Amino acid sequence: MRKVQLYIAASIDGYIARPDGGIDWLSMVDKKGEDYGYQEFFASVDTTLMGHKTYREVLGFDVPFPYMTTANYVFSRQKRQPDDNPVHHINDDPAAFVRSLKQQKGGNIWLIGGGQLNTVLLNAGLVDEMILSVIPIVLGEGIPLFAGQPKETKWGLKEHRAFDTGLVQMWYHKG
Ligand SMILES: NC(=O)c1ccc[n+]([C@@H]2O[C@H](COP(=O)([O-])OP(=O)(O)OC[C@H]3O[C@@H](n4cnc5c(N)ncnc54)[C@H](OP(=O)(O)O)[C@@H]3O)[C@@H](O)[C@H]2O)c1
Repeated sequence: MRKVQLYIAASIDGYIARPDGGIDWLSMVDKKGEDYGYQEFFASVDTTLMGHKTYREVLGFDVPFPYMTTANYVFSRQKRQPDDNPVHHINDDPAAFVRSLKQQKGGNIWLIGGGQLNTVLLNAGLVDEMILSVIPIVLGEGIPLFAGQPKETKWGLKEHRAFDTGLVQMWYHKG
């Protein structure tokens, strides 16, 4: 069955963005020629999942829409109008939608985030793997990796990599 993989970066204290959504702090690990496995990972998926807030942040980047080769699903509680980007706006229960998506033929699915969508899918038991890049910074406040009340779940460590920029990447599978 297709796997849902959460591939995401977080601060040491577990935030994925500043309270205002800012992700400027991710650039502290920018290094020429080092993408921390991003291109390889992106080539291994054919679908992405985003909460509407994350989608809005992506649209705010000063670059063309970055997910042109994948099928992209953006979740909202509101009915959203189609826009110019190659995304499907889903106004449906994310867990039911993703459960059905996993049954369909296809490759792996990148759960981009953010924290709200992560918790919905984690609590529904639909996240199969987590590739977590910890950035060496304590933010003190921000948007959590898992918003609200994530369920206790145990994970096994499949792989880990440490980089001289201080970023540590952990590849967890469901325990
Ligand atoms: N560090 C990283 O690698 C990384 C990765 C991804 C995201 N981020 C950051 O995370 C932040 C956004 O995270 P977030 O937790 O605030 O928001 P989010 O999960 O991206 O999106 C939240 C939105 O998703 C929709 N949603 C949530 N639960 C739903 C449900 N049960 N049913 C249907 N729709 C649902 C709602 O959209 P509506 O309001 O339209 O109803 C909600 O406002 C951004 O700042 C982004 O930059 C960082």
